[in-house]
Amino acid sequence: MDKLLVHGGATLRGAINISGSKNASLPILAAALLTADDCIIGRVPDVSDTNYMIQILSALGASVERASGTVRISCGELAVEAPYELVRRMRASICVMGPLLARKGRAVVSLPGGCVIGDRPVDLHLRGLEALGAKVAFEGGNIILTAPTGLRGANVDLCGSHGPTVLGTDNVMMAATLAEGLTIIESAAAEPEVLDLANFLNAMGAKIEGAGTRRIVIEGVSQLHGAQHTVIPDRIEAGTFMAAAALAGEGVTLRRVCRDHLTAITAALVKAGHRVDYNPAGDVCTVHRGEDPQGCDLVTAPYPGYPTDMQAQMTALLATTPGLSVIKDTIFPQRFMHCAELKRMGADITVDNGTAVVRGVAQLSAAPVMASDLRASAALVLAALTAKGTTAIHRLYHIDRGYEHIDEKLLLLGADVERVRD
Ligand code: EPZ
Repeated sequence: MDKLLVHGGATLRGAINISGSKNASLPILAAALLTADDCIIGRVPDVSDTNYMIQILSALGASVERASGTVRISCGELAVEAPYELVRRMRASICVMGPLLARKGRAVVSLPGGCVIGDRPVDLHLRGLEALGAKVAFEGGNIILTAPTGLRGANVDLCGSHGPTVLGTDNVMMAATLAEGLTIIESAAAEPEVLDLANFLNAMGAKIEGAGTRRIVIEGVSQLHGAQHTVIPDRIEAGTFMAAAALAGEGVTLRRVCRDHLTAITAALVKAGHRVDYNPAGDVCTVHRGEDPQGCDLVTAPYPGYPTDMQAQMTALLATTPGLSVIKDTIFPQRFMHCAELKRMGADITVDNGTAVVRGVAQLSAAPVMASDLRASAALVLAALTAKGTTAIHRLYHIDRGYEHIDEKLLLLGADVERVRD
């Protein structure tokens, strides 16, 4: 296992390229199951999660080739059971359920366990697939979905107690592309990654309208063909480096971003007293640390609201921002694992009932800390950039799940970091 040593105090400058979106890549890779033709997907980030998805597709019988950021997949003959050993490692594996069911009339996927950010139910996924005519059974920790006579379009509302579901919307949308008749998904997730998936599905011959809004209409077709697609930029990676720039930068430029996907993140940084400039095309941004940063309140919400995946990183920034900040996560109320570790570095944070109250301190101090989940780990890296001393962040594999070569990108910006064997 690797750890990352971060020697605090370096100033970040310069420019890096943001990678393709992990959270767009995962359902798009799964969507290739819907056709026997070749699919070619560009800018797939080289992170553990996309590698797990590629292993799952291969285990299902797909032939998959990867050349740097481009993945070629052809799903001719397919098995219907996703291997537990691989599925248990990544909750997002659940998004093979919809395409497998639509293509094969049967899907067997292990129930995803919970994880550190909270319970990860799939009731909304199953509500949608059952509405399309699937029969659901549970056996030995697996979900067994069958639709021997095919799927039929239906109207379904996918709103849960914490709002829409991103992968649930993806699963139902993918299954509906091959269902007979019209499907209307109400309370759909509107994340850019859902729209990117819909664009890929339409390139495959699907008939989807309304993706990116709360109401998606899918007219089923008899079959889909191969397609070529380049995934959108990773807005959470971009946001993470924007927060790093606000914390420890003197004008950091990020290329290959998409301004429209970063509205809430940009607004939060401006509210905390920093400046974010975009070029006219909106694909390059430069972040300038503010002269007079101040604490601010944040509430996470489904897109286009402030993303829960950027909650930990903003908490790390606000931990050394003068003033009081109140951060509420309405999507994953337990997603505060990073706070315990930040407090070991000297942060003044109280967590209660899905809310963190942060009182900015002048500087954090280095400490050996433990990464726990992907975004909490990123928050610890950010905090270490300006902490006094050298912080060792153990279990780096959590970060490698979703950030492509994060240490190399930080080094390019002048951070004083090194990856070492733990
Ligand atoms: C996606 O997960 C992302 N993952 C997550 O990013 C992100 O945090 C999450 O959406 C919310 O934006 C990928 O896209 C691969 P949800 P997903 O279903 O789809 C509840 C990261 O760091 N819910 O939108 O699994 C659920 O408990 C990861 O990159 C149900 O109640 O999340 C949560 O409270 C972490 N029943 C809320 O809905 C269900 O059937 C939103 O979850 C499904 C979800």
